[in-house]
Amino acid sequence: MATIIDGKAAAARLRERVAGEVAELAATGRPPGLRVVLAGEHPASAAYVRTKEKMAREAGIDAAVVRLPAEASTAEILEVVQGLNRDPEVDGILVQLPLPAGVDEQAIVLAIDPAKDVDGFHPWNVGRLGSLTGDLPPDLLVPCTPMGCLLLLEQTLGREALAGRRAVVVGRSAIVGKPLAQLLLRRHCTVTIAHSRTRDLAEECRRAEILVAAVGRPGLIRGDWVAEGAVVVDVGINRIATEDGRGRLVGDVAYAEVEPRAAAITPVPGGVGPMTVACLLANTVLAARARRAAARER
Ligand SMILES: NC(=O)c1ccc[n+]([C@@H]2O[C@H](COP(=O)([O-])OP(=O)(O)OC[C@H]3O[C@@H](n4cnc5c(N)ncnc54)[C@H](OP(=O)(O)O)[C@@H]3O)[C@@H](O)[C@H]2O)c1
Repeated sequence: MATIIDGKAAAARLRERVAGEVAELAATGRPPGLRVVLAGEHPASAAYVRTKEKMAREAGIDAAVVRLPAEASTAEILEVVQGLNRDPEVDGILVQLPLPAGVDEQAIVLAIDPAKDVDGFHPWNVGRLGSLTGDLPPDLLVPCTPMGCLLLLEQTLGREALAGRRAVVVGRSAIVGKPLAQLLLRRHCTVTIAHSRTRDLAEECRRAEILVAAVGRPGLIRGDWVAEGAVVVDVGINRIATEDGRGRLVGDVAYAEVEPRAAAITPVPGGVGPMTVACLLANTVLAARARRAAARER
C-alpha cells in the first residue's frame, strides 16, 4: 500500500508558517499586500480567486481582488497592472489566467514588475529559474504549483534523497511541467520531460522513480505504466461526469490501479491543489521581504 501524501496537511503547515512571517512583517511595518486581478467571470477562475483571497486574508496578508469586466481590453488591464506596480503597499501581483479572448496575455505578464510577480511567470523569473545552476536563489519567485510539488516530494523522500533519482514529468506547460523539471534538476534528479508527441509514453513512465503527471487527461497514467515503488505526483484536476449529475474531480493518474504499486502518491483532490495556494502566500511574503531589503539598500 502506498503512503498517501497529504497535501492538505502540508499546505496547512506551510500557511501557518507564512502567517507567523506575516505577523512579523506587520509588527515592523505593514503586512504584505497582494492584489489578484480577475477579468471576467470564468467560473473556475472566480472560484480559484475567492480561495486565494480567503486564504491570504486568513494568513494576515492584506489581500484584495481587482475585478475587471470580461470586455476589458489589453490596454485597460495593462493600466491596472502598471498602477499596482507603482503602489508601494502592493508586494505581490497575480493576474488570473486565462484572460478573456482577445487579450494579449503575454503583454500583461511582461508588464508585471518581476519583483512583485508572485506567480513566477515573468520571463525574468523564468530565466533565473532555468539559467542559473546551483541552489535555488532564496529570493526567487518560483511558480506556485511546481513549487508545491517539489515541497511534497522533499517531505516524502527527504530533500537530499532526490539527488540522482530518475524523474519523469509528463506535461511541458510553462506553468507546471517545465518549471517543475527545472526544480527537479536543481535537486539533481535525472529529468525526462514527456508530452503529447512522446513516442512510447508508457515506457518512459515505467522508468520513473519519481513520476509527475501534469496533463489534464483523466486517468491517463495506468497501473502498468508505473514501476513498483515509484513516488507519484498527480497535478491533474479534471471534472468528470457522474450519474447524479454533480460531477467529480479526478487526476491524470488512474488512482485505483496505480496506488497499489506506488511507494507514495498524491490524491486528487487533497494533494497538489492545496499546496498551490499555500505557495502563493509564501511567495507574497518572499516578495515583501525582498522589496523591504531593496528599499533599505536604497
Ligand atoms: N493542482 C493545481 O493547483 C494545478 C495547477 C495548474 C494546473 N493543474 C492541472 O494540471 C493539468 C495540467 O495543467 P497545464 O496547465 O500544465 O496544462 P496544459 O497547458 O494544457 O499542458 C498539458 C501538457 O500535457 C501534454 N499532453 C496532453 N495530452 C497528452 C497525452 N495524451 N500524452 C502526453 N502528454 C500530453 C501537453 O503536451 P503538448 O505540449 O505536446 O501539447 C502539454 O505539455 C490540468 O489538469 C490542470 O487543471 C493543477
